[in-house]
Amino acid sequence: MAKKQEDLMQKIVSFCKRRGFIYPSSEIYGGFANSYSYGPYGTELKNNLKRLWWKKFVQDRVDMVGIDGPILLNPRLWEASGHTSGFNDTMVDCKGCKKRFRADHLIEAATSLDLEGDIARMAKALKEKKINCPECGQTNWTEPRNLNLMFTTTMNGVEGPVYLRPETAGAIFVDFKNVIDSMRVKIPFGIAQIGKAFRNEIVAGNFIFRLREFEQMEIEYFIDPEAKWEKLFDWWLKEEEEFALALGADKKDLRRFEHPKEKLSHYSRKTVDIEYNFPFGFSELYGLAHRGDFDLSQHAKASGQDLSYFDQINNRKYLPHVLEPTFGVDRSILVALCTAYHEEEVEGEIRTVLKFPPALAPVKIAVFPLLKNKAELVVKAKEIFDLLKDKYFCEFDDNGNVGKRYRRQDEIGTPYCVTIDFDTLEDKMVTVRDRDSMKQERVAVAELVNYFNNKFSN
Ligand code: GAP
Repeated sequence: MAKKQEDLMQKIVSFCKRRGFIYPSSEIYGGFANSYSYGPYGTELKNNLKRLWWKKFVQDRVDMVGIDGPILLNPRLWEASGHTSGFNDTMVDCKGCKKRFRADHLIEAATSLDLEGDIARMAKALKEKKINCPECGQTNWTEPRNLNLMFTTTMNGVEGPVYLRPETAGAIFVDFKNVIDSMRVKIPFGIAQIGKAFRNEIVAGNFIFRLREFEQMEIEYFIDPEAKWEKLFDWWLKEEEEFALALGADKKDLRRFEHPKEKLSHYSRKTVDIEYNFPFGFSELYGLAHRGDFDLSQHAKASGQDLSYFDQINNRKYLPHVLEPTFGVDRSILVALCTAYHEEEVEGEIRTVLKFPPALAPVKIAVFPLLKNKAELVVKAKEIFDLLKDKYFCEFDDNGNVGKRYRRQDEIGTPYCVTIDFDTLEDKMVTVRDRDSMKQERVAVAELVNYFNNKFSN
């Protein structure tokens, strides 16, 4: 990682803890396996991000419905989908320091060879290329072996292992029949879902980039198998990019990576990742895959149920094909943080400011009485707070001088601060200060809700 970018990552990690965005989890017990908690501001940010996604992809569209399925599903689903047999990564241990690595990542970092999925070539490369352990420098490796990434648990009354879903998609496919039977959907249409997924990653890391417990926002978009899909596929890629831009990402930091034909799963016609230039380099942010009718036909076979769709207009019955746009919530949060984080020099001092798009900002408006020991100012400020909090997530702050309060709000990305001073009591106007321009203007209290409605609708 280049020095400047490494610094940015470290700054973001410590900033997130200090300002209540993201904490290392179980910290009082010494932490736990690279897991994180979203703190109060992080939770608001995450909720705003998911709301933005849901609005764009469900609420604003007539061809999309949403569901919220369980994490624990019938284990037969994961057999049918191929996860129990094939959802593996290859691991290798250093015999010297006992540290464990993902074999393909280790080899790629040392040689630029991408051997993902090819265990024989990985074994050969580890021997022949004399790859050093990044931890202790030795070249003494165990044989690489596959590790299934699904977490298992047990359930009362159920024989054998039960899995924590490794992707949200499975819950969508098993409810496909319920959706077509209960809703008036017509192909093409999509089913969307946001929720937790779990993967027993060999190495988690890069903050919230690779977690073992994370959230996904996924869509299964069902199409006629005879339809021309190429344009639609490209359109979905643009939608994914558009969502990343709405989080604040710069166009130049986004690129597409098409999976080479020889590496595609047998059922996939095309898979493209949207990659983002994270501080540690370009890595997968979102994905889009044409999965054919693989999932529905597998589940139809394994369950014995008819999962076909009847097209009334054309009097045809078929198993729909599927385009699957998939988005990681935590990686989206990391993009929003990396792009929003700025340090600027203002009057000889460094101000840290998160320039979030307003829709993402955890706090939309902060309300300050100029002085906390003047009851008339505090009462008026509380009135203004009550006026605004109904529609906007607001924070009341009367601690320290106003300059310091501005800095605190800049740090967490609050787009506007409202100050109530002695003039307010006479002229019924308040000072509104803009986070990015730092400009201030007087606005009539009677106009304040309208003023913010206009600001936040832009
Ligand atoms: N249903 C398709 C699917 O799950 P994927 O590429 O394995 O595809 C989709 O995952 C998205 O989920 C990724 O693009 C990424 O944003 C997110 N994701 C996957 N593994 C993750 C992990 N270990 N930690 C955080 N996010 C992850």
